[in-house]
Amino acid sequence: MKAVVLHGTCEAEELAVREVSVPQVRPGWVLVRVRAFGINRSEVLVRSIEAGMEHIKLPRIIGIECVGEIADPSDSAFARGQRVVALMGGMGRSFDGSYAEYALLPTRQVFRADVEMDWASLGAIPETFFTAWGSLNDGLQLAPPDSVLVRGGTSALGIAAVQLAKSFGCTVMATTRSKEKLGFLKAIGADHQLLDDGTLSDQVREHCPSGVDKVLELVGPATLRESLLLTAQRGVVCVTGILGGQHTLDGFDPIKDIPNSVCLTSFFSNYPTQAIMDNIFDHIRRNGITPHIAKVFRLEDISRAHQLMESNRADGKIVVLT
Ligand SMILES: NC(=O)c1ccc[n+]([C@@H]2O[C@H](COP(=O)([O-])OP(=O)(O)OC[C@H]3O[C@@H](n4cnc5c(N)ncnc54)[C@H](OP(=O)(O)O)[C@@H]3O)[C@@H](O)[C@H]2O)c1
Repeated sequence: MKAVVLHGTCEAEELAVREVSVPQVRPGWVLVRVRAFGINRSEVLVRSIEAGMEHIKLPRIIGIECVGEIADPSDSAFARGQRVVALMGGMGRSFDGSYAEYALLPTRQVFRADVEMDWASLGAIPETFFTAWGSLNDGLQLAPPDSVLVRGGTSALGIAAVQLAKSFGCTVMATTRSKEKLGFLKAIGADHQLLDDGTLSDQVREHCPSGVDKVLELVGPATLRESLLLTAQRGVVCVTGILGGQHTLDGFDPIKDIPNSVCLTSFFSNYPTQAIMDNIFDHIRRNGITPHIAKVFRLEDISRAHQLMESNRADGKIVVLT
């Protein structure tokens, strides 16, 4: 089969497709014929940094999510040909992932996807919508009439969060660092499009004088202190992204940095379940939500797909068909 195999860290330009053997099934694992997969920042991280660290055993096929069909159900209850999605749980790090024509995956990370959707559209959903869904529902406990600020609104995750938050009936503000992308934020449904240019506090208070009820923080620790100050009393900030490139916050003083009555939480997409995936697919269908795809590549063009993500010019989910 064709696969993208890492033998160490490399640049996006060095990614290439190789011929490797189709993996053999074993108990507790199913073989999936991968039809499409989304590109994620975490794969950029594995390629550029983590592949040089001890926790990644090389060679490794990367990729933390995919959609496809069961090619061999092994000892699972799946039928051959069942449409499935799979994500996380060590995929593409602890065991080989999705950048391939076939993936051998732990049955617990594979979920039925009985939805009428082309492969590219389905491929844009698992990681991005699961993370947006969990951040909004579990992290922020978002419900109307909440106002919510999506910080990093033009990211694939930010776009999905804007779409979902609007479908919940909330008032949605979303940020970009680029004036040119304000129109894009409007087009995807954000009620207020804000420029993250150092004046965000004034812009937020123009629409929500007492602060915004909920903040989905996708830029991460780099902007967290400010996001906490933009939040209304009894509001919630959920840190889900690290687009700012800063993973930790040195000198964070919880008593002084978290305003009284504001809650700070986070979301990690490592624990998907069939019930949640069913809820997401049902919600998407009932609300007519179409995943926003930036560009669809073939597996052979994997290098260009990673380059596009690193350029920050994607404006949507990058999907690869296998
Ligand atoms: N917690 C979890 O389990 C989980 C799961 C999935 C993803 N994530 C994280 O969620 C974030 C979004 O992922 P994604 O794949 O959706 O990203 P993406 O689509 O690649 O995001 C691209 C956008 O991010 C913005 N951006 C880039 N660098 C930035 C910086 N230094 N400061 C502020 N904004 C910046 C740019 O928007 P503008 O140019 O318009 O500002 C760019 O268009 C990532 O940090 C990812 O690691 C977390």
